[in-house]
Amino acid sequence: MWTTSGRSAFFLVLQHLKSAGVNHVHLPAYLCESLLLPVKTLGLKYSFYPVDLSLTAHPNPPHRSAVLLIHYFGWLNPATSELRKEAGRSFHLIEDACHALLSDWSTSSPVERFVLLSPRKFGPLPLGGWCNLPGEPPRATAKAETLMWRSLTARLLRGTYLRQPHAPVDPATERFYLSAFQAVDQYLEREVGESGVPAFIPEMAAALDWGKISRRRRRNWRLLHALLANRVQALAGALPSATVPLGYPILLPAAKRDRVRRVLATQRVFCPVHWPLPVEVSARSFPDAARLSRTCLTLPIDQRYGQGDMGSLSELFLRTQ
Ligand SMILES: Cc1ncc(COP(=O)(O)O)c(C=O)c1O
Repeated sequence: MWTTSGRSAFFLVLQHLKSAGVNHVHLPAYLCESLLLPVKTLGLKYSFYPVDLSLTAHPNPPHRSAVLLIHYFGWLNPATSELRKEAGRSFHLIEDACHALLSDWSTSSPVERFVLLSPRKFGPLPLGGWCNLPGEPPRATAKAETLMWRSLTARLLRGTYLRQPHAPVDPATERFYLSAFQAVDQYLEREVGESGVPAFIPEMAAALDWGKISRRRRRNWRLLHALLANRVQALAGALPSATVPLGYPILLPAAKRDRVRRVLATQRVFCPVHWPLPVEVSARSFPDAARLSRTCLTLPIDQRYGQGDMGSLSELFLRTQ
């Protein structure tokens, strides 16, 4: 079922489980704060479990709880096969494949699990989440329709603007597209229970060349890895054949991470941090998650970039060292 976002897909799955009597969600301590929103909106109890520095999940699920398993950055979580074996017996498994849309998260034998996706993270889609609940998706609101068109217009404008790299910076244009993107973010944040997506979104998704997107992302990851692996600590040392990465995550000492990020931003290279530690997660109880939150930086490798861009990115990055 299509939804507006990954978090609204999570909302629908949790709502479904709540109606079946589940009242506790067991979450990884290393997670995006936005995932707490559906849990709190539904008034469910929650607890955190450790994730180690290799991004392996170590849940200890309370009986009949729902366990969220995140496949970080596109790689299947190393704990996946163990958890899939147990899924549906004493706990419900929710696999968050929002970073792993194009990786192989299929199973060879049937597994009782829920799956969450966020196609909007992998293509030019202003909205778009998905979960494997059966049934008809809710209707899109007028607000979702309006925001979608506004965001699409802003994307077209940004595309034209950024295609002229030597043109002067135009703050009015930048304000226009940034405020359109911000309006979508605010909507997804505030209206987590409004999951209906405009019909144009799945149509747009169907028209994208996902094979090409996968090949480009994998090629860019490999290029960057060849250029940087000896100079920086990459979070993943290899790219298995069925993995399509979200980005090129690296670990840097905390103060340096923030400085490198600032310097790259002045060169218009915007690197996301996955993720600041939510206040609900205790750094003392979950030191590995806290360390990942302080030290991880994701370098962009998405399909808009080619070989030359990866070369410039690595040069810019190495100059910050
Ligand atoms: C692993 C993961 N799952 C889910 C989400 C939520 O997805 P969305 O932003 O589409 O709501 C995020 C957001 O960044 C995420 O990183």
